[in-house]
Amino acid sequence: MEKIKIDTSKASLFVTEKDYSTAFTHTLRGFKLVFDKMGKGKEFLGWRDLPFQKEAELIQMEETLNLFTAKLDTVVILGIGGSYMGAKSVISALSKNFPEKKSLDILFAGHHIDADYYAELMAYLEDRNFGLIVISKSGSTLETAIAFRVLKKFMDKKLGKIKAQKRVAVITDKRKGYLKEIADMMRYPTFVIPEDVGGRYSVLSPAGLVPIALAGLSIADLLRGAQDFSTSTRAMVNNPVLDYVATRNSLFSFGKNIELLASFNPRLTYFAEWWKQLFGETEGKEGKGIFPASAQFTTDLHSLGQFIQDGNPVLFETIIDVKEAHQNPKIPNDKDNFDYLNYLAGKTLQEVNQQAVESVIEAHFKGGVPVVQITMPELNEYFLGQLIYFFELSAAASAYAMDLNPFDQPGVENYKKNLFRRLGKPGS
Ligand code: PA5
Repeated sequence: MEKIKIDTSKASLFVTEKDYSTAFTHTLRGFKLVFDKMGKGKEFLGWRDLPFQKEAELIQMEETLNLFTAKLDTVVILGIGGSYMGAKSVISALSKNFPEKKSLDILFAGHHIDADYYAELMAYLEDRNFGLIVISKSGSTLETAIAFRVLKKFMDKKLGKIKAQKRVAVITDKRKGYLKEIADMMRYPTFVIPEDVGGRYSVLSPAGLVPIALAGLSIADLLRGAQDFSTSTRAMVNNPVLDYVATRNSLFSFGKNIELLASFNPRLTYFAEWWKQLFGETEGKEGKGIFPASAQFTTDLHSLGQFIQDGNPVLFETIIDVKEAHQNPKIPNDKDNFDYLNYLAGKTLQEVNQQAVESVIEAHFKGGVPVVQITMPELNEYFLGQLIYFFELSAAASAYAMDLNPFDQPGVENYKKNLFRRLGKPGS
């Protein structure tokens, strides 16, 4: 089995052996809590088993989806946070940058309340055969609920209520929430987010798998990647999760408060957003946690590069390095050579990008920035499945190592309460 590789050698040099060993002891305790299902929030550890879903269930899911989308050219996926980010990140990472006309267009909504976006979306949907898939574990998240109300009414008006009823599917909890009640009442096809899986750990549940399958990607390969990674990390020796978490957490005690996830592939921009939610909500509580930030190289080397190299030394980097490109144009020779680029003639763009990776690591490391390097052989479902599971295990183990509950998010409630009060929600 080919695996993603995690190399911490250019980061661990910045901490003492004693600090690393203390962090490792805490990490090991945290990692065991994840496996023994004994820690705080243990009722939300169901994500650990998601890679091992039965093939028959996946086939059934795909069949239901085929029926649902048979007459559609567009599906709008409504959701926010964990009910949005996982699907969006995998679809963006594995879809073409400039897709040919697809049989099914996948759009997203419900992840903000921007008025212009919804006005433009409805105008765009005017001559489309569209369906709605609403994703919400709680079934009551305001952004998603508003989007559903607005777009469903728009659809009712366009198609009539009876036709519109067949154009909605729901992904929610098995029992609880308004959305579940609506789905039952309206007999919408419904997929279940298991009760023991929280939002930011739900990408390998129907919350992520349904949109990912709709985008024509292989959910079987994604799960196989996660499965293989899970199996390979049972051993406590040479365990990349333990090493990564112990390294980042000892860097934290050494004053590195920010982890910057960087990649050299714009397709991974949304993957970094998923990662930020995963770590931000998992360990950012009780005054603790490493702030998760991201950058897109080489683009951001022309904006953030100065700060990273030379500014306040508060951060360390985790760089995702994808070794092979799917297509690889060469830089052509030019007999005039007015741009003086003939020294690059014959090199592929991937070769140049790889040299950029090495140059950045060399420069930042020498400039005092600890660098963790994650190598992926290529960007596909299988290796992305591994990477997802690697980060999920790491985030949960890290929070436990900090004596936190990885699976709650009490801090998110405050803004919601204020918003409900300002909007005049009864009882708020
Ligand atoms: O990780 C989490 O639990 C949150 O980010 C949720 O995913 C997000 O708030 C959306 O919640 P819901 O799926 O209940 O609409």
